Amino acid sequence: MTDQDNSASTENAQALGENKYMRKVRSFVKREGRMTTRQSTAIENLWETMGVDYQVGTLNFKELFGRDAPVVLEIGFGMGKSLVEMAKNAPEKNFLGIEVHGPGVGACLADAGEQGVTNLRVINHDAVEVLEHMLPDKGLATFQLYFPDPWHKARHHKRRIVQPQFIESMRHKLAIGGVIHMATDWENYAEYMLEVLQAATDFKNLSESGDYAARPEWRPLTKFENRGHNLGHGVWDLLFERIS
Ligand SMILES: C[S@@+](CC[C@H](N)C(=O)[O-])C[C@H]1O[C@@H](n2cnc3c(N)ncnc32)[C@H](O)[C@@H]1O
Repeated sequence: MTDQDNSASTENAQALGENKYMRKVRSFVKREGRMTTRQSTAIENLWETMGVDYQVGTLNFKELFGRDAPVVLEIGFGMGKSLVEMAKNAPEKNFLGIEVHGPGVGACLADAGEQGVTNLRVINHDAVEVLEHMLPDKGLATFQLYFPDPWHKARHHKRRIVQPQFIESMRHKLAIGGVIHMATDWENYAEYMLEVLQAATDFKNLSESGDYAARPEWRPLTKFENRGHNLGHGVWDLLFERIS
C-alpha cells in the first residue's frame, strides 16, 4: 500500500522544548490520495454516528456503542471490507476500527452504511497514539491486526507496528482472557511476531502446535491477503490469550 522507500522524508519530527527534536518512527507513510464521492459522502453522512474524533482522554465504550458488549479492536483495517463483514456477522459484539488512511475510512463507512451495520465505530488516527491515550485498560476482548505493512527491508524493520513495546501496550488494554489475533503473509514478519509474543509476559499461545494457528473461520479473507495469495505468499495466523 505504501512506497516504503520514501519514508525518511515523511518521518515526523516532534518538538521537545526549545531546539530539541525527537524523531518519531511511524508504521505508515501518509499519502492520502483523492477520496471518491462515495467515500466523502459516507464520511459527511455517517461520521456523526460512527466516527470517533481523536482525543487525549479515555473512551467510555458503553456510551460510545450505547450498550455493554465485548469490544473487538482492529488496527489498520485498510478499506474495511473484512471488518464490516465481521461486524455484520457478530452483532452481539462491538467493533472499533482504527485506520490512518482517510479514503479507507470513507470506504469502510460507506460499506457499513449500505449493509446496515450499527455495531461499528471508526477512528482516523495513528493507532499507537490511540492506544496510548484513548483506550481503557482491560477494556478489550480482542485485538485484530491483519496484514500490517511488512516493511520488509531490514533497515525499515523499526517501522513495523509489532514491537515489544507495542505488545506491552496491547496487553494493558486487553481484558484477562482477551485475545490478540494477528495475520501476515510475510514469513519473516510472522517469525518476528511469534518471537515478540512468546517473549511477552502473561500470554498463552492458543496454537495447538505451539507456533502458528489455522485461520479461524470467523476471519474473512482480506484485500491484502488476496493480493498475497496472488503473489504465491503463504499466510500465518497468530492467536495469543492474555492469561493474567
Ligand atoms: C497492508 S495494509 C492492510 C490492510 C487490511 N488489514 C488488509 O488486510 O487488507 C496496512 C494498513 O494499516 C494501516 N496502518 C499502518 N500503520 C497504522 C497505524 N499506526 N495506525 C492505523 N493504521 C495504520 C495502513 O494505512 C494500511 O491501510
